[in-house]
Amino acid sequence: MTSATSGRGQWSSQLGFVLAAAGSAVGLGNIWRFPYVAGESGGGAFVLVYLVCVAFIALPVMLLEISLGRATQKNPVGAFLAVRPGTSWRYLGYLALVTGLGILSYYAVIAGKVAAYCVSYGQTLVQGGAHPYHGTSLSTVVFFAVFLVLTVLVVVGGVQRGIERWSKILMPLLVVTMLGIILRGLFLPGSMAGVQWFLTPDFTKIDGRVVLNAMAQAFFSLSLGMGAMLTYGSYLSKRQDILRCGVWVVVFDTLIAILAGLMIFPAVFALGQNPAAGTTLIFQVLPEVFAKMAGGTGIAILFFFLLSVAALTSTVSLLEVVTAYFVDELSWPRSRAVWVVGGATFIVGIPSALDMAGVAPYSSLTLVGKTGFFAVMDFLWGNLSLALGSLMLCLFGIFVWGLHRAAAEIESSAPFFSSLSGTWRFFVRWVCPLSIAVILATLFGL
Ligand code: PHE
Repeated sequence: MTSATSGRGQWSSQLGFVLAAAGSAVGLGNIWRFPYVAGESGGGAFVLVYLVCVAFIALPVMLLEISLGRATQKNPVGAFLAVRPGTSWRYLGYLALVTGLGILSYYAVIAGKVAAYCVSYGQTLVQGGAHPYHGTSLSTVVFFAVFLVLTVLVVVGGVQRGIERWSKILMPLLVVTMLGIILRGLFLPGSMAGVQWFLTPDFTKIDGRVVLNAMAQAFFSLSLGMGAMLTYGSYLSKRQDILRCGVWVVVFDTLIAILAGLMIFPAVFALGQNPAAGTTLIFQVLPEVFAKMAGGTGIAILFFFLLSVAALTSTVSLLEVVTAYFVDELSWPRSRAVWVVGGATFIVGIPSALDMAGVAPYSSLTLVGKTGFFAVMDFLWGNLSLALGSLMLCLFGIFVWGLHRAAAEIESSAPFFSSLSGTWRFFVRWVCPLSIAVILATLFGL
């Protein structure tokens, strides 16, 4: 953005948007969540359904969300009001804000844990010995708070752009580091069973839950359904090509998720671990792989550092969405909005942090078929709410805004889109809303 603190600002170049959108998309969703959900959902079959959902549901929704942002130049609530003043659709915007806060409240717990691993491996390097980090409840809450404060400082300072420029160098470096870890994993005896498990679909494993998990993971990983892409799209200038940006982000994000799977599952099988271990999967697997690597401590520091940066560009986008609302609609000073939202997020996130650290009673809470406060939060906000938000966004596009307007918005900077426009509208009108609705309905046993 050319001016983050005064006025709304705009990306100074196409690259600015792509870096920010890719920064929002690529994060723990790819490297922590994708393997854990794939592991719980049976492996290869999940991966296949995931790829189908990305291409046929998430990508069309993404283009709709970015185009609504750019057309209205507003935050999620303001965007609906700009299309139709006074509309009740603004509640969809409020849902987006609550979802953003909900996701941030547990996402930053994992981000803090990743940062804690980086610090702990750093200590190992200095002091010697081998001590993988075991979070106490205090340290988990502290690292969670530290990560939130870091996010707050970036958003208050409006220095996102600086970080994104850095991530242009750091994200390729993350990919290279992952390739190194993948290679090490593949040389462990027994790893091929993991490759096979990850890449060979077993169709008998596909049921309603697996499909919901895959679809929701596509929304989560691409930051869809809660206004992040809408807000970032609102900083796009009219000249910038929504189609190319969207496709590029989707391809890059999907590639990183697949690499994360290849990094985790061969090692899971070689080490005799359980792929369905849940939210702590990568933390159980990776330290063992690092322990077997020459220079493993150094590589661990590098990896957890780069993953922290990837997580930071995602937490920044989550906080930015909620902040944009308070600044635009309620005219709050930016710093007040950011600190208040950050503080609220911290309070909401404490039980998630305590659950991550294994503190009762949070770990025994059972709801919606999930055990533990953390897993329940991830299911409610990361699964259900994003799916619902995306569904409602499609309905808004169809019935209120008009898909021809959305298509015209995309086409205005990508003339080539005119040949795809009919297909795209068919997907947003029929394929996306119906499949999301059916998948949600199956979940509720309808
Ligand atoms: N897409 C981010 C990730 O994969 C998480 C996220 C979800 C960010 C929703 C913003 C909105 O890590």
